[in-house]
Amino acid sequence: MKTLIFNGSPRKNGDTAALVNELTKHLEGDIKVVNTYTAKISPCTDCRYCWKNDGCIIDDEMQTVYKDIDDADNIVIASPIFFSELTGPLLSVASRLQQIWISEKVKNIKVLKEKERKGFVVLVGGGDGKPGKALGTAKIIIKHMGTSFVDSVISHNTDEVPAKDDISAIENIKRIAQMMRE
Ligand SMILES: Cc1cc2nc3c(=O)[nH]c(=O)nc-3n(C[C@H](O)[C@H](O)[C@H](O)COP(=O)(O)O)c2cc1C
Repeated sequence: MKTLIFNGSPRKNGDTAALVNELTKHLEGDIKVVNTYTAKISPCTDCRYCWKNDGCIIDDEMQTVYKDIDDADNIVIASPIFFSELTGPLLSVASRLQQIWISEKVKNIKVLKEKERKGFVVLVGGGDGKPGKALGTAKIIIKHMGTSFVDSVISHNTDEVPAKDDISAIENIKRIAQMMRE
């Protein structure tokens, strides 16, 4: 079982990291975490190379991540909510999925092999109590990776209760880990 996790938090030991660490404790097989604040992955510049050629011309860590997406059984988008959205660096990494979209939907050439990939979203927020647009955006990103959205976990009051102490979120993390293992 291969699980690919995108962590959109700038905080190494923050709330997102706490839930990601809890999740990985309950998973088997290969697990890769892409920390989007530190990964050497540039944003899409809409250069349109992919309109006429295969793949993306930017030669950086995303080239490996494309293979990881293709091989993954589970994909997780994990992020703090910033201004009701996913964080900027996570959206920046996600922009590199454009070459898949252009190839598959515009040029009609498959990039990703046919396989069942399960998608999950893990969000943390300080306390406005809403996932805002972040959940919808994460679902779109999951779809662009040829993956079916399954479920989400939200710890939405981290100003008062850090995610690591949010009993309901921790239970839900264990629940989605079970879904990934099935
Ligand atoms: C720039 C910025 C914008 C934020 N916007 C929101 C928001 O819209 N809604 C919310 O509930 N929390 C918001 N927060 C709070 C974070 O989501 C919260 O502190 C979260 O637990 C941090 O997660 P992390 O420790 O994984 O980075 C914001 C924080 C920052 C720094």
